[in-house]
Amino acid sequence: MNPVVVYCSQTGHTKRYAHWIADELGCEAVAYSDRSGLDLTHVDTVIFGSWFHAASVPGSKWLKQQIAAHPGKRFVLFATGASPMPEQGGSAEEIEEAVRRTFPESEFPTLPWFYLRGGFAMDKLGAVDRTMMKLFFKRTGKLAESDPKAAEMDKAMREGFDGTDRTLLEPLIACVRSLEAQ
Ligand SMILES: Cc1cc2nc3c(=O)[nH]c(=O)nc-3n(C[C@H](O)[C@H](O)[C@H](O)COP(=O)(O)O)c2cc1C
Repeated sequence: MNPVVVYCSQTGHTKRYAHWIADELGCEAVAYSDRSGLDLTHVDTVIFGSWFHAASVPGSKWLKQQIAAHPGKRFVLFATGASPMPEQGGSAEEIEEAVRRTFPESEFPTLPWFYLRGGFAMDKLGAVDRTMMKLFFKRTGKLAESDPKAAEMDKAMREGFDGTDRTLLEPLIACVRSLEAQ
């Protein structure tokens, strides 16, 4: 068993999950920015983590390249976002849609993927994302006036929150262990 975790993270939530996974599996967690130093020769499973960035998943192009270049290796994807987990009232359909926009089922039918609730930290965002979020808050602020669920989310986002939870990793860890046992 020789997995590695590679993660893309701007404000730290995905990084935290990546290090928890590495700790569980006894392997390394490598930041996406350090990927050029990554030697996959003896790695059998690549666990790639990133975050929902509107309609995209940062680093997904690299992951697709690695999947194409290494047909003999196993890949597992996890994505974090501000959306609640389905068991917390989030929409499983919207989460799946967000994953499938970048990794369509027709092209990646066997790629195991997991959603893990991240958090939101406006103060750690880069300038472009901060501007995007200000525009987003204009819209959600309007929605919040008439929709209590939207109001709750709008408040949490504006205040910032950390929704990371190590127990959410159990299905992912079980999946990696079962892949490694095959
Ligand atoms: C510009 C922008 C767009 C985002 N879009 C989404 C989204 O579509 N769905 C979602 O659940 N979270 C979205 N988020 C929230 C991030 O995915 C969330 O904060 C994530 O945990 C950040 O990961 P990081 O801390 O590792 O950078 C967005 C955040 C930013 C800044």
